[in-house]
Amino acid sequence: MASPPLSEPAKPHALLIPYPAQGHVNPFLKLAKALHARGFHVTFVHTEYNHGRLLRARGAGAFDVAGAEGLRFETIPDGLPPSGLDATQDIWALCEATRRTGPAAVRALVERLDRTDGVPPVSCVVADGAMGYAVHVAKEMGLPAYLFFTHSACGFVAYLNFDQLVMRGYVPFKDESCFTNGYLDTPVDWMGGMLPGARLRDLPTFIRTTDPDDTMLTIIIKQCELDAPVADGILLNTFDDLERRALDATRARLPNTFTVGPLGPDVYPPSYLPSLTSSLWRDDERCAAWLDGSGFGAASVVYVNFGSITVVTSEQMDEFAWGLAASGCPFLWVVRPDMVRDGGAAGSGWALPEGFAEAVGARGLTVGWCDQEAVLEHPATGGFLSHCGWNSTLESLRAGVPLLCWPFFSEQVTNARYACVEWGVGLEMPRDVGRAQVEAAVRELMAADDGRGAAARRRAAEWKEKAKAAVAPGGSSRDNLERFVQEIASRAA
Ligand code: UDX
Repeated sequence: MASPPLSEPAKPHALLIPYPAQGHVNPFLKLAKALHARGFHVTFVHTEYNHGRLLRARGAGAFDVAGAEGLRFETIPDGLPPSGLDATQDIWALCEATRRTGPAAVRALVERLDRTDGVPPVSCVVADGAMGYAVHVAKEMGLPAYLFFTHSACGFVAYLNFDQLVMRGYVPFKDESCFTNGYLDTPVDWMGGMLPGARLRDLPTFIRTTDPDDTMLTIIIKQCELDAPVADGILLNTFDDLERRALDATRARLPNTFTVGPLGPDVYPPSYLPSLTSSLWRDDERCAAWLDGSGFGAASVVYVNFGSITVVTSEQMDEFAWGLAASGCPFLWVVRPDMVRDGGAAGSGWALPEGFAEAVGARGLTVGWCDQEAVLEHPATGGFLSHCGWNSTLESLRAGVPLLCWPFFSEQVTNARYACVEWGVGLEMPRDVGRAQVEAAVRELMAADDGRGAAARRRAAEWKEKAKAAVAPGGSSRDNLERFVQEIASRAA
């Protein structure tokens, strides 16, 4: 008698829950593509608010999964009251709100997916480090759970030491004078995993508080003390060669740490689901044509972009504008529509200063948002004036483009310090940078002579090769990714 046909084992089903900000959804979407390309059913969770923004910025194409059966998008509320403001910009409020309302929403979503015909049961949860509550929900539901921290390992090591900073009395700061009296130069050499000579000013800016109950300080300590140790593993979008010291310290605390970066087109087939993007703003499509068609020499254009959260004053923008104009370099400058805030009010109506357009002519292009990775990969791009968000830093390293570092907040100051001192790819700019310093810094980075700019270019070219090797078959990140895939697939079986 013929034996009955064996039923096909259900596909492993990963539920991906990014923190709802640009610098988090981008690496999560890359991870989604990497898992889907390896046979996973993937459910990607946006907040309702960001889902709406993506529809406005991209149209339905933002969710075009044609030819990608088993990749789906779901939404949960972000917990914030409706408002005219951009909910991704107030990370403090967003962190609190997601932690408050997220658990019930994620539990209900898993239960609903498990009842949905044609959808395999959820077999693992990969949540953002900033959505650590999801680990506890998953565990209560008997599911394996991993945390993906989308920032650098050097930033992560600093976060892992926030409790020590409190216990040793460095944080909270005694009073406001600590912001200006040299206290930030206090060495923190005892902090394992940090670069030699690290100071308080090189640690994520969330330590800069006088409030013992500070929201971010409390949330970060909780992530590291209560969420991360409960997770089955940790994912980091970095690679071993780049951050070995920080990773050794991380793995001493959290042994099952997978370094899988730089996540991107190296870890899925070429042109995999190209229309599926996560940009919350609409790209200005003039950028590619301008870079292609303006007759600029190789590596001659400075790209200026301060990411998705940075806000600056009109005065500071004027200084950048006139500094770029005086540098004589071609530049592509991204000015987000909500980037300039004077006295806290969004949309102060800052416009390029009078006479600026005439001064720069066709040598400068200013847009509201662009396809950053495409710009960095363009042969005409030769330097990146950046806020050193982790994605920007890593994308620049992967493209072999040196940095001018003007960090804004969070672990951007840590990334910037590493870029300049440890990786040798960056030149540091002071916080209150004036037009003459902007001009000088741009000239120095782009100079043809054998100075600091040339040294940064050489190091950037070396890191580019190492970054690509890490995600190529046999590379450390590629091996880790495959090991992670096997681990979560075997738990689904
Ligand atoms: C911030 C932090 O700096 C980051 O380190 C942290 O982990 C998350 O919050 P953000 O300001 O969003 O992030 O910067 P970054 O991490 O660099 O991410 C921005 C992303 O948006 C990058 O992937 C970049 O390619 C993309 N981007 C940005 C565009 O595609 N176009 C743009 O015009 C600007």
